[in-house]
Amino acid sequence: MASVPSLASTVQQRLADGLSAALPEAASADPLLRRSDRADFQANGILALAKRLKGNPRELATKVVEAIPANDVLKEVEVSGPGFLNITVTDRAIVETLAARAADARLGVPFSESAGTTVIDYAQPNVAKEMHVGHLRSAVIGAAMVEILEFTGETVVRRHHIGDWGTQFGMLIQYLVEHPHELDHSSESEVSGEEAMSNLDRLYKTSRALFDSDEGFKTRARARVVDLQAGDEETLAFWQRFVDESKIYFYSVFDKLDMDIRDTDVVGESGYNDMLAETCRLLEEKGVAVRSEGALCVFFDDVKGPDGNPVPLIVQKSDGGFGYAATDLSAIRDRVGSLKATSLLYVVDARQSLHFKMVFETARRAGWLNDEVKAHQLAFGTVLGKDGKPFKTREGETVRLVDLLDEAVERATSVVREKADDYREKTGKELLTEAEIVENGQYVGIGAVKYADLSTSAARDYKFDLDQMVSLNGDTSVYIQYAYARIRSIFGRAGDRTPVAHPELELAPAERALGLHLDGFAETVAEAAAEYAPHKLTAYLYQLASLYTTFYDQCPVVKPEPAREVAENRLFLCDLTARTLHQGMALLGIRTPERL
Ligand code: ARG
Repeated sequence: MASVPSLASTVQQRLADGLSAALPEAASADPLLRRSDRADFQANGILALAKRLKGNPRELATKVVEAIPANDVLKEVEVSGPGFLNITVTDRAIVETLAARAADARLGVPFSESAGTTVIDYAQPNVAKEMHVGHLRSAVIGAAMVEILEFTGETVVRRHHIGDWGTQFGMLIQYLVEHPHELDHSSESEVSGEEAMSNLDRLYKTSRALFDSDEGFKTRARARVVDLQAGDEETLAFWQRFVDESKIYFYSVFDKLDMDIRDTDVVGESGYNDMLAETCRLLEEKGVAVRSEGALCVFFDDVKGPDGNPVPLIVQKSDGGFGYAATDLSAIRDRVGSLKATSLLYVVDARQSLHFKMVFETARRAGWLNDEVKAHQLAFGTVLGKDGKPFKTREGETVRLVDLLDEAVERATSVVREKADDYREKTGKELLTEAEIVENGQYVGIGAVKYADLSTSAARDYKFDLDQMVSLNGDTSVYIQYAYARIRSIFGRAGDRTPVAHPELELAPAERALGLHLDGFAETVAEAAAEYAPHKLTAYLYQLASLYTTFYDQCPVVKPEPAREVAENRLFLCDLTARTLHQGMALLGIRTPERL
């Protein structure tokens, strides 16, 4: 494992050295380097520096350039405009840096120097309820953040804060107590996720109807809530059956999503029960929460209702019951105190932002969060239908996540099949077996859904448009998957040519562009991790696939056959591109089939 400094950081270092040699008084100034269209890089830092030193920026820039000794990384440093530096690196430097990346299993991506422990709260559906697109977003974005952070060396603890507690269970449990065989499964047959959900749905509907029509049942259901909260064993055993039935369903959906959710990481709201009373006591003792009309509340200067009155965070209701906030505050104590988190990340719908703002502020006042332990809500926007309105079925119901996933896989499978048919017609050869078509259909369909979710910044609403998602041309996962498969197929046709880096060769423009972009992988990963912004990685990968497409059009690898060294060097670029695409997509939770 060797971390490889990127070209950008090497250039930055050379410029910084030149700067401090030319202007010792400005030794710590930042050259402000960035990638550029005009040259490989551009540095704008001298403008601000000249202002500070009251000098002429062009003169200063010229002095800096003169102070940079000749070397084999910088081919040209040119002063331009009012005092920018345009920097071109040598072809040799590009290929040598990439060769060092290729020699490393991690593609030269360094571990973060400030790695800590992050607890990620994501994929948190609710017991006895159908999962919807909001749960999809949390799961997909959360899982990507888990992978990205772990790749940078962060210790990650996953927490699936499922909604498994609350007064709604009184009704369900009471119904099951009175109809005890409703959730019986014969021991031989395994219950499918679909069956589990339909059992729960049926129970929910019938018990709800009873609750609304039968006063006696209503009273018994309310008494059941009290038993549940008091920890009555028989009641808990019935409650557990709902949780177990729901988990069968959850896991089937996560499985469809090609996502690994471990049972030990599922710590739902109920998991913090034993801490709730103490959390309230501590908040009251510290003076963070106060009694108001019987309830225990935390007030904020900047949180007011439409009438101008303050809206408090209620940690305990006047009837003594604890709610969502008390649970989240207890979870913070657990995650910081027991799990030793240095960061808490919540992948939750933006519509819960006020809740988290108040919860985090309360925790800070109580001293549970501080400069060493930070909390952040990675808030995501709403999924919209094609019409731009919140995603609903034609009947106005929320769309069932499973239906959506099934449809995505179906569409993707027909795209894959069509391509395979084309290939057969053109070549007379079979590209994929039927089993491969089915498998690829899943990878492409599920990949498409994940990619769409990850390709815009999470905070934005996005339109769920399956046609666009499985389109072969455009910013889609299948475009990237095809680029990957195309590269893999080249290796089958390359005969005795193997990937070998040749730093002595001059590079074609498309090779340079691809090479420079490949070199930016580590920085992109670091940025996506630090900013909790998986969409930056997505954008990077899309651009990589696009640059590869241009390279593929302009720089023949196999036919017409170039000189041996050129072919080897191009294969080397192909190989590194494939590995970077594969690694990047894996971080996003998207598969890259070898043949497509
Ligand atoms: N179960 C909640 C929902 O479906 C999301 C839970 C978010 N996490 C949390 N710690 N509050 O909306």
